[in-house]
Amino acid sequence: MGDATWWQRGVIYHVYPRSFMDGDGDGVGDLPGLLGRLDHLTWLGVDALWLSPVHPSPMADFGYDVSDYLDVDPVFGTLEDLDRLLAAAHGRGLRMLLDWVPNHTSDRHPWFQESRSSREDPRRDWYVWRDPGPGGGPPNNWLRYIGDSAWGWDERTGQYYYRVFLDSQPDLNWRNPGVQEAMFDTLRFWLARGVDGFRIDALPSLVEDERLRDNPPNPDYRPGVDLPYLRQLPVWNNDQPETRELAARMRKVVDEFGDDRVLLGELVLPMEQTVAYYGPDGGGIQVPFNFELVSGAWDARSIAGYVDRYLAALPAGGWPNWVLGNHDSPRVASRVGPAQARVAAMLLLTLPGTPILYYGDELGLTDVPIPAEQARDPIARLVPGRGRDPARTPMPWDGGLGAGFTSGRPWLPVGEANRPLSVAAQRDDPGSMLTLHRRLLRLRRQAPALAGGGYEPVEADGDVLAYLRTGPGERWLVALNLGPHPARLAVPGLEPTGRVAAATDPARQDRPVAGELRLAGDESVVVALG
Ligand code: GLC
Repeated sequence: MGDATWWQRGVIYHVYPRSFMDGDGDGVGDLPGLLGRLDHLTWLGVDALWLSPVHPSPMADFGYDVSDYLDVDPVFGTLEDLDRLLAAAHGRGLRMLLDWVPNHTSDRHPWFQESRSSREDPRRDWYVWRDPGPGGGPPNNWLRYIGDSAWGWDERTGQYYYRVFLDSQPDLNWRNPGVQEAMFDTLRFWLARGVDGFRIDALPSLVEDERLRDNPPNPDYRPGVDLPYLRQLPVWNNDQPETRELAARMRKVVDEFGDDRVLLGELVLPMEQTVAYYGPDGGGIQVPFNFELVSGAWDARSIAGYVDRYLAALPAGGWPNWVLGNHDSPRVASRVGPAQARVAAMLLLTLPGTPILYYGDELGLTDVPIPAEQARDPIARLVPGRGRDPARTPMPWDGGLGAGFTSGRPWLPVGEANRPLSVAAQRDDPGSMLTLHRRLLRLRRQAPALAGGGYEPVEADGDVLAYLRTGPGERWLVALNLGPHPARLAVPGLEPTGRVAAATDPARQDRPVAGELRLAGDESVVVALG
C-alpha cells in the first residue's frame, strides 16, 4: 500500500514515562531522560511513540488524574522539555502522541474545585451531579471500576457526583457544551505545538444515560475471575450513542490540523462495538484499540478464528490494529511465558495493520512481583490481586545499580528477573528477544506487504497458526507454533520454498525452506517465498 499513511505503515511504541528513563536522579522517569534515549527507538526501528500522561497531576492514578491539560508535571519536566522532546523526535523521523484523558479530571482540577464549591456555581454542570435516589442513597445502581457504587457523596452540597474510577477522578459532564469546547481546545493546544495525535483514555465511559436507568445484572459474571464491576452489564453508562458522536467530533478537531494526525482510542468493548468507533464513512477514531491479543485465549485456533472475525468486522477502509501489552495488563512474557513471547512478537509484527508495542516487551520483561506494602498503584489496595505495578517497572538499560534507568532509587523495583534482560545485555546477542524485534521491525520496513499487504489464512491444525502476506512482488509465509511440541505445516497446494527471513530460533535465520515446513515447539518463522 504505497499511499498508506505513517500510522498505518508504522509501529507505535508505548512509553510509560515514569519508568522509561530518569534524567535527574529522583527515581522517576522524565522527559529529558526520555529524550536521551530516543536513539533506542530509532535503532529498534519503531515509527512513533505514545506517552502515557505527563500533565500536572496529584498522581493518585499516576497521571490519569489530570489537574491541568495544558502543561507538564514538574516530575516529568517542563513544557519546554516537551517541546524539545517533540522536536528531537521529529528530527529523528519519529512521530509523537500524547495521552488524552477526557472522561474525568483530577478532583484538584480548578474546574472541579469550582463545580463542587456550590450548587449555584457556573461550573456545577461541568460534572455529573445528582440528588440521592428516592429512598436516599445513590441515584441508581451503577458500579464503578472497583466494584462499588459509581456515585460519590459530597457532604457539603448534599449531592452525589459520578466517578467511574477513583473518588479523586470525577467524571466530566460531556453533555455540557462548555465542557466539549474546553476539552476540544486542549486538543488544539497540543496539535498546534506539533503533536501528531492522541491516545484517548477510557473513551466508552464518556457519556451516561440521561435518565440514569439501572444497569441489568450480567448473567455470565464469573465471581473471583472477572473484575467486580462486571457483575453488571454497563448498558446505560458505557458506549452510549452520544459517545460515538463525540468521538467523530474529536476527529474533526484533529483534522483541523491536516490529514496526518491520528486518534487512538482505548475501547474495552466487544469487537462489534469497538469497530463502530471507526465511525460512519471512516469519520471516527482511526485506531480503535483491538485488545484481543491481551485478553483473548492464547491458542492457535482461537487466534486464527478471531483474526478472521475481526478482519471481516472492519468497516470499509477501517485499518486493523493489534495491542499486545500495556500499563494496565500483565506483561505478555508473564501471560504466555518467555518462549511464547517470541512467537507473540512475530505475530504482532506480521498481522495486517498497526502494531502497538509496550516498552520493555521488546526485552521480554516479565511482571515484577511487588509486595502489597510496597504497592504504588491504588488499584492494588482497592482490588487485591489486580494491581498494575508489576507491568510498570523501570526499563533496564544496563547492568548498573539503577539498571541505567536512574542514578537514584527507582520508584518501583527493576526486578531481579528483568535485570539480566537489559538493552546492553541483549543488543549484540543474535539470539536475544531484542534482536528478534529489531529484525522483525527491519523486515517490516523492507517489506511493505507485511504492514499493508494482503492477508490470507493458511489452513493449519493443532497449535500451528499460519498465513500469507502478499503484495506486488512479495509473498511471505508466517508460520507460528503456539504449542510446546514439534509440528509440521503441510498444506496441499502450498509447497513452501524460500528462505527464512525471520525466526524465533536464530540458527534458522536465512536458511532455505523447501517442501514441508517443520517447526520445533514454540518456534515461528517468516519465510520469503520464492
Ligand atoms: C485507563 C488507563 C488506566 C487508568 C484509567 C482511568 O484505563 O489506561 O491506567 O487507570 O483509564 O483513567
